[in-house]
Amino acid sequence: MPTIRLCTPDDVNAVVDAVARDQRRASQANAFIDARLDRDDLAASYRDRRAPTWIALEGARLVGHLTATTLARPSGAVSAWVSPDAVSFDDVATLGSLYALAGEHWLAEGVEDHEVWAYDRPDVRDPWFELGFAQRFRRGSLELARRGSPRWPAGYRLRPGSITDLELATHFSELLDAEETLGPSFARIEPPDRAELVETLEDPDTIYGVVEHGGSPIAQAIAFPLLPVRGSHDRTMHLSAVVVDPSHRGRGVATAMLDELAAWARSQGFDYADVTWRTANLAAASFWHAYGVTPTYVRLQRRARID
Ligand SMILES: CC(C)(COP(=O)(O)OP(=O)(O)OC[C@H]1O[C@@H](n2cnc3c(N)ncnc32)[C@H](O)[C@@H]1OP(=O)(O)O)[C@@H](O)C(=O)NCCC(=O)NCCS
Repeated sequence: MPTIRLCTPDDVNAVVDAVARDQRRASQANAFIDARLDRDDLAASYRDRRAPTWIALEGARLVGHLTATTLARPSGAVSAWVSPDAVSFDDVATLGSLYALAGEHWLAEGVEDHEVWAYDRPDVRDPWFELGFAQRFRRGSLELARRGSPRWPAGYRLRPGSITDLELATHFSELLDAEETLGPSFARIEPPDRAELVETLEDPDTIYGVVEHGGSPIAQAIAFPLLPVRGSHDRTMHLSAVVVDPSHRGRGVATAMLDELAAWARSQGFDYADVTWRTANLAAASFWHAYGVTPTYVRLQRRARID
């Protein structure tokens, strides 16, 4: 059994080595995961962290580490978030020993909701399942050059949306949420945050695409540049809020809408698209698979206190 103790500044290099090794492996297995790592930046972030980091040692050798960032949701509920660079482990027993202590600390702080973004590989995500985590979301990427010119079904066209379409964006957002509240997702979703939607639509970097049919809006998508994040390629466009009115589904509308946005994004210098979906939203999962998206990460969740 490894020894678990808190990380000290002297341990930071070994932690950075472990993160670099895992990121390199992930990138070798999946071209959509960027191998670049600013070691100095990561080391500084570990040295400056206020949140504790636990490390696992076999003798003097580091065999794992775990830390989390606690973040409040708009509802006020606080979650502990573990990103791919916040954890490493050699086996499930090591992860279990680390989580036993880290989780106890988070629980003592009143944080029951534990969220993990993990590389979407069985050897990385399955040990979390053993500890009672469940898969909630999947993230994936796509090379924009793989998509051709949009082939619109007759009578449909895309127009740029704006803040004047706030009611429409709210309607589509509620439609998506309402569907995901039903089975098999049974998601508990907070009402759309109007201020956040206003901020998104007013952001000059946001592209709001609205599809019309016979003069009426019947679908939408929102795209914006992905902020630089470790493991993601530069020039990545994030796609979100893709919704087609139920009576217009199955005709290729979403595909054409995204292809037109993809062509526009390429003309603006973007090379990749990135998207996240709820895994129990089987229509979304099938759609993104058919669209050519390659899974990169999974988001796992556990409510720590269970029966
Ligand atoms: C997912 C969604 C956007 C698809 O829109 P759409 O216009 O019907 O999609 P398309 O017609 O372009 O479908 C393209 C391909 O995706 C797949 N697909 C789309 N909907 C599917 C479904 N319900 N079940 C299985 N596969 C589906 C199919 O392979 C389809 O190709 P095919 O028609 O030749 O079989 C639409 O169902 C929707 O708005 N759902 C609710 C909102 C939502 O979940 N959005 C995704 C958020 S991440």
